[in-house]
Amino acid sequence: MSTADTSSPTTKLSIVYYSGTGNVHKLAVAAEEAAAKAGADVRLRRVPEYVEASLAPEFTEWTEAWSENAGAIAEIPAATADDLDWADAILLGGPGRFGMIAAPLKHFIELAWPLNARGGLAGKVMSSFTSTGAQHGGQEATILSLNTVFYHWGGIIVAPGITDDIMSAPSNGNPYGVSSVSGPQAIPGRLAENVTEDNLAAIGYQTRRMLEVADALRRGRRAGADR
Ligand SMILES: Cc1cc2nc3c(=O)[nH]c(=O)nc-3n(C[C@H](O)[C@H](O)[C@H](O)COP(=O)(O)O)c2cc1C
Repeated sequence: MSTADTSSPTTKLSIVYYSGTGNVHKLAVAAEEAAAKAGADVRLRRVPEYVEASLAPEFTEWTEAWSENAGAIAEIPAATADDLDWADAILLGGPGRFGMIAAPLKHFIELAWPLNARGGLAGKVMSSFTSTGAQHGGQEATILSLNTVFYHWGGIIVAPGITDDIMSAPSNGNPYGVSSVSGPQAIPGRLAENVTEDNLAAIGYQTRRMLEVADALRRGRRAGADR
């Protein structure tokens, strides 16, 4: 079953992400730029916070960084299930928290339950990315938890693999989905400074790769519909 809209002249990509302190946001913006450059019709959508105040007010620097990021991304439209319904391809991103999907993103995924229940996500191209504090702090586990959602949705998962030299750069290397390492860095005025240029190039590559597959599928489906 395919829910992709083959009548549209361009491939539609929704980039849906949650970011507490700016790292995932920076990757998401790079993905948007790469997609627009590749000629896709792109929606960049932020998943809102699920708490009104900081999770940990006693961590004052983190709290200030979290507030700064909230201000910086406030203009980006909030994600809705319609953004998933609209798209031919879906790129989901969020930080690793305890080695899995952050709660706001999980909440958003659960809100898409009715759309999924009516088969509205099946056959779309999907891919995911993350940022963690430590290289071995659960990047793969986080990506796999996002990709497991894609299995449930009936998506066609396109991972970056190590299919381009950029994926072997020292700050990359996770074939499951592009992942940056923020380290102990959530410092007001210095948000996301540990996202490297190679991370940004890699998420651009991952985005183009999924768009290539989505384009090919759309062409094939249109040819099938015309027969
Ligand atoms: C509640 C919480 C749990 C976290 N758990 C992990 C973890 O399990 N492993 C890890 O490496 N980093 C962990 N981190 C750090 C974040 O994954 C990391 O800072 C990430 O770069 C944040 O992305 P963001 O700036 O887009 O929110 C955690 C952070 C928070 C606030």
